[in-house]
Amino acid sequence: MIAVSDLTVRYGKRLAVDRLSLSVAPGEIVGLLGPNGAGKSTTMMAIAGVCAIDGGKISVDGVDITTQPERALRRLGVADQPPTLYEFLTVSEHLAFVAEARGKPDPARADGLLARLGLGDAAKRLCRELSFGMRQRVSLAAALVGDVAALLIDESLNGLDPHAARAGREVIEAAAAEGAAVIMSTHLLGIAERVCSRLIIMEAGRIKREVVADELAELRKQGAGALEELYLGLVGASAT
Ligand SMILES: Nc1ncnc2c1ncn2[C@@H]1O[C@H](COP(=O)(O)OP(=O)(O)O)[C@@H](O)[C@H]1O
Ligand SMILES: [Mg+2]
Repeated sequence: MIAVSDLTVRYGKRLAVDRLSLSVAPGEIVGLLGPNGAGKSTTMMAIAGVCAIDGGKISVDGVDITTQPERALRRLGVADQPPTLYEFLTVSEHLAFVAEARGKPDPARADGLLARLGLGDAAKRLCRELSFGMRQRVSLAAALVGDVAALLIDESLNGLDPHAARAGREVIEAAAAEGAAVIMSTHLLGIAERVCSRLIIMEAGRIKREVVADELAELRKQGAGALEELYLGLVGASAT
């Protein structure tokens, strides 16, 4: 569903993503881990067509995002970091706008997402008034409205209280269960271990290590701390 091959992105002289390849099948949740500056957000923004690429190919549902961006991106939901919201729209107007842009207005789904994410009471508030955690949740809801087949979730579960974090996790899992291909970056190793089908650990723009499904299942069995040990043994602290 999401296929990236040899993706390279530079910011001036800085190489942010270095010949990275990955693919995500429908129903999979791939966790993108790695220190600050590893290139996680850049990878996702490149897939979302928001950041210019210096090499490689990206397709969503078999459609090349460079040659046919509108077609490729129509079924792609993105929760960016920090969240880009239409500040002078209310929360429900924001969701309605995003769903319409995807060609799939669906107020019932938007209301359902708001309720599940504990945002029912915030529906009529302007986005610019929201707290950090509420913005994270609105951004997640907006990624999920419309008929999305692929999802890019950039640290959207950060800073959420335990109830909200669980709700966020559940809506992402539900989207995958409905067949969405999901890439989700996070520093929350416990959540990654629990939610993801497999993990990709990045460092300095490259894939340092992939943790495939069987290995992840083994880490879960070993219990709390096993993934943390693997991660800390593998990558250094943040580079940039
Ligand atoms: N807009 C930008 N301009 C210049 N450099 C950037 C920009 N965005 C990110 N970078 C650099 O690209 C690298 C990857 O950043 P990023 O993709 O944000 O990493 P991550 O999401 O893993 O923390 C870092 O070295 C960062 O400083
Ligand atoms: Mg980032």
